[in-house]
Amino acid sequence: MQKLYIKTYGCQMNVYDSARMADLLVPLGMTPTDDPADADMVILNTCHIREKAAEKVYSELGRLKIVKQTRARAGKPTVIAVAGCVAQAEGEEIIARQPAVDIVVGPQSYARLPQMIAEIARKGGHALDTDFPAVAKFDSLPEAHGGVGVSAFLTVQEGCDKFCTYCVVPYTRGAEYSRPVKDVLDEAMRLYDEGAREITLLGQNVNAYRGEGPSGEWSLATLICALAKMKDLRLRYVTSHPRDMGDDLIEAHRDIAALMPYLHLPVQAGSDKILAAMNRGHKAADYLRLVERIRAARSDIALSGDFIVGFPGESDEDFRATVKLVEAVGYASAYSFKYSARPGTPAAAMAGHVPDAAKNARLQELQALLTRQQAAFNQACLGKTFSVLFERPGRKKNQAVGRSPYLQPVHVENAGHLIGRVADVVIEAVLPNSLKGALRQEVPICPNP
Ligand code: 5AD
Ligand code: SF4
Repeated sequence: MQKLYIKTYGCQMNVYDSARMADLLVPLGMTPTDDPADADMVILNTCHIREKAAEKVYSELGRLKIVKQTRARAGKPTVIAVAGCVAQAEGEEIIARQPAVDIVVGPQSYARLPQMIAEIARKGGHALDTDFPAVAKFDSLPEAHGGVGVSAFLTVQEGCDKFCTYCVVPYTRGAEYSRPVKDVLDEAMRLYDEGAREITLLGQNVNAYRGEGPSGEWSLATLICALAKMKDLRLRYVTSHPRDMGDDLIEAHRDIAALMPYLHLPVQAGSDKILAAMNRGHKAADYLRLVERIRAARSDIALSGDFIVGFPGESDEDFRATVKLVEAVGYASAYSFKYSARPGTPAAAMAGHVPDAAKNARLQELQALLTRQQAAFNQACLGKTFSVLFERPGRKKNQAVGRSPYLQPVHVENAGHLIGRVADVVIEAVLPNSLKGALRQEVPICPNP
């Protein structure tokens, strides 16, 4: 029996892809391990979005090279594969920089992993595949199975046609592609049968979903309506572009109880000049109007966002516009990053790169504001009753950890028997990164005797 170690970097799409790679390799006789030193095959599923993310991969490869040498001395060969967006973006350069790497495979070519492994076993040397094959990725990967948790991911859309000037995604993940409705519904059914009670629909531009349906194209809202018919299933989706936030999707937040009141809607910046330079295709006021319409449909919705500070040409005044926008919206959670020049993207060649010291100061100020907003959002939950979906046991005996509708982790005592079920929880305390609550009513061990 061969051992397989997969390390995942970056977004949830990579988490999903790593699970698909395991689904592909386990039937060929590999068992997952958490210990790279014990692994006959190591896969790093990588992220190229910022320089730091890509550099982490090379540090890990340096460590793995030593592991590979140690294992080789004990007569145990190791195959090292680099998958994901660094593989797609850097291709052969990876092998030039770290010759211990045997396989480089881009996100569209995972189905070829078994052949690539066989190829290097037979011929030695390296194997590389960063093509965008004509056969859709999802048609050639095996069905999802095994290891499905209470909360599962399902990729419905991949790639991006927006070409924000800072972003590598259109180059590493290719053009927008939506999976056909039937494939998505079938996969959702399988996840449900294996115990998933919450499905997060994934896509780099998920709200641009246009899947081939039984009678014409389906939007994300139509897909969500269909999935909401499955009993006791919660739905979420991520990540959305403001320009693709259709009326039907906003209405879905009003009308569909299964759709959780949480929306990740990145705006990146608050200055119209910077939004234009980023090629975002909307102004700050458009975003604020959109937020108003979403809140009119679902007043309690928790909003989350992504921000970039120090984009080329960003002045102090531009940054103040970002702060103003954040103050106007009030986020429940958010991610913020220093602009990182990515080779080959238009912004990397723009004038006016911002010095690191200014980027640091802006990031610190923005993060402090976003942290205060998150704390205020959490504090306002105190004393409220939430329906919590329990996902896993907690650290303490008979404790369980679940998620509120707003995606906050909630720790609850005497709830060990509730994994996979939803119960009403009164929020009693706000901890730094989670909430603590108590069951509103005792919930029997067996729901339907
Ligand atoms: N530099 C910094 N942050 C970036 N992001 C994407 N590209 C870059 C970059 N070059 C951020 C955006 C995006 C998130 C996933 O990563 O905020 O929404
Ligand atoms: Fe990148 Fe912009 Fe596409 Fe998002 S919408 S993946 S930031 S190009």
